[in-house]
Amino acid sequence: MSVIILGIESSCDDTSAAVIADGILRSNVIASQKVHEAYGGVVPELASRAHQQNIVPVVSEAIRQAGIDKKDLTAIAYTRGPGLLGSLLVGTSFAKGMSIGLDIPLIDVNHLHAHVLSHFIKCDQTDKVPEFPFLCLLISGGNSQIILVRSMNDMEILGKTIDDAAGEAFDKCAKVMGLPYPGGPHIDRLATEGNPEAFSFSKPHIPGLDYSFSGLKTSFLYTVRDNIKEDPDFITHNLPDLCASLQKTIIDILLNKLSKAIRQTGVRHVAIGGGVSANSGVRSAVEKLCRDMKITPWIPERAFTTDNAAMVAIAGYYKYLNNEFSDLALPPFARVSI
Ligand code: KG4
Repeated sequence: MSVIILGIESSCDDTSAAVIADGILRSNVIASQKVHEAYGGVVPELASRAHQQNIVPVVSEAIRQAGIDKKDLTAIAYTRGPGLLGSLLVGTSFAKGMSIGLDIPLIDVNHLHAHVLSHFIKCDQTDKVPEFPFLCLLISGGNSQIILVRSMNDMEILGKTIDDAAGEAFDKCAKVMGLPYPGGPHIDRLATEGNPEAFSFSKPHIPGLDYSFSGLKTSFLYTVRDNIKEDPDFITHNLPDLCASLQKTIIDILLNKLSKAIRQTGVRHVAIGGGVSANSGVRSAVEKLCRDMKITPWIPERAFTTDNAAMVAIAGYYKYLNNEFSDLALPPFARVSI
């Protein structure tokens, strides 16, 4: 009999549902919330309300696109945390209600685990997956971590940000330049037309494998502030160069610690994940680093980099095979490491 998992993701500002049947992706529906654009960042209360509006149509559409009936589902996997509590409550409550209604098991998934396991999403049987152990550079709007992945459920954080995440550096600097939220994709696009050597911003000097991005953000802000005194249209005149130089600095910071982690662990497979791994500069820099160090890169499809339920469904699928189920009484959690 087939194992058919419905995944539900609602940790931040994307409402998503996906169906995975016997490890193969059948549907992945994502409703991104536009309501936050006007505010330059995610407004938690508005996110919760949008999830409430989206969740029924998104789940129905995922089931329809998978070509199944809800009665065919074997189990429901949902993101329990970390994330925005109000947003998580919507997905968690919906998953619990559906599991009671259909009388099928419930599986709680850690959002960060799911990002790492996105590399195991198969669109068909021929898709290849990473070998254990591998390193995963998890870079998103809320996290920047280097994770040693020994197995599906054995992960160790070797380094993490001590302040801002890489995505926050993109988004906050984008805001200074007047770009819409989220700024990462806009900087990515504009950077292709700019000179990455035009400006230099400060890089952190912290020991070990931890990251820091708040100094870069301040240095970016000071550069803009100082130059605007001379030229009030400094941003407009230098937009692609500012984007290219900022992106290059973020990539240098990310790869400096990643290559250190590769040398320290001797691991031969490196994966990237999270929203910032959609960045074209990050993707090609990681590929080049892996080529130079003669190791295998795992670069996810862009659809699986930002928040999506396919990664929740695949994480749930492996928990199902391992008989790991969750209790209806489990509350969502806002913050936790891997
Ligand atoms: O993983 P994700 O969807 O969720 C959260 O952490 O909430 O990551 C979102 C982050 C945002 O900071 C966004 O600006 C960034 O990923 N991002 C990018 C790109 N696409 C998304 N950053 C740089 N370049 C991109 N192409």
